[in-house]
Amino acid sequence: MAGLGVASTQILPSVSKLPYVKVAAAADVRQEALAKFRKEYGAEVYTNFDEMCESPNIDFVYVATPNELHARHVIAAAERGKHAIVEKPMALTLEECEAMNAAAEKNGTKLLCGHTHSFDPPIRKIRAIVQSGELGSLRMIHSWNYNEFMYRPRMKHELATSRGVVLNQGPHQVDVARLIGGGMVRSLRATTGIWDSARPHEGSYVCYLEFENGVPATLVYSGYGFFDTAELFWWVGEGGQKSEKENQRDHELTGRRIVERADALRWAEGRRVQPRLARRAASAVFRFHAREL
Ligand SMILES: NC(=O)c1ccc[n+]([C@@H]2O[C@H](COP(=O)([O-])OP(=O)(O)OC[C@H]3O[C@@H](n4cnc5c(N)ncnc54)[C@H](O)[C@@H]3O)[C@@H](O)[C@H]2O)c1
Repeated sequence: MAGLGVASTQILPSVSKLPYVKVAAAADVRQEALAKFRKEYGAEVYTNFDEMCESPNIDFVYVATPNELHARHVIAAAERGKHAIVEKPMALTLEECEAMNAAAEKNGTKLLCGHTHSFDPPIRKIRAIVQSGELGSLRMIHSWNYNEFMYRPRMKHELATSRGVVLNQGPHQVDVARLIGGGMVRSLRATTGIWDSARPHEGSYVCYLEFENGVPATLVYSGYGFFDTAELFWWVGEGGQKSEKENQRDHELTGRRIVERADALRWAEGRRVQPRLARRAASAVFRFHAREL
């Protein structure tokens, strides 16, 4: 396991239970994370990724390090004969992706981007229905995702290097649409949005693409927390579980807080009121609503 951050906490507990996987080692630059990992898994620990890949006890590495290290780590693994699963986004540029593919081909290693929703049973089922033709031919695909992605806690530079939701969440929609649409895309057009000056990176996009057979798809994303598309699906979200009542309520509150803050700031701007006072007023209104809910 390369990188013992948030992603690893979602991966390791399940992967370590698989009968054909043995968690053999981890690499991270944080000593405390390595100490915790060693205690839990009793496996090898490394502060240097390349050294971990030298270990004869490792067959493949799961790369969940920061986005800008994906290419370097996958290539280093391939050069040492290790297969790799790399978290999305695969890398930050097409050139990096090509170099990763080339390294895997040259060294005869396997390279997989994961986690990948095109492996999810519901997505596979949709593809199977499309392929079977039982509902006729596929005419168009639409994918909407609204959530509070831009307000989740994360390392400061992550939004900058990955262009906000574009490389962080875009890969999921592209991956799912391509599996269902069945292949290569012949044209693509997109518009991105930066709507919060406190987080000056892309938090939304609308993308229109056309498959080689002419089938069009739209991919829509907003990570600004005004709405959660899980509400359209009985509060069953990306992970496949129904979200707790508590989270649904939190979501309503976050949405209201953002709107009220924006209103308060606009109001302050118009009347030359200090933004600090406007923010305090907005917070008071928010607390009032929280009591109501
Ligand atoms: N957070 C999530 O829920 C989630 C989900 C899916 C995918 N991902 C992807 O996983 C990757 C990691 O995301 P995260 O949220 O876990 O980030 P994170 O910042 O929580 O974790 C990254 C880890 O990598 C370590 N690291 C940094 N430099 C390193 C180096 N040179 N060698 C080894 N380890 C190093 C950090 O110390 C940290 O523990 C990203 O590509 C992200 O897109 C994250």
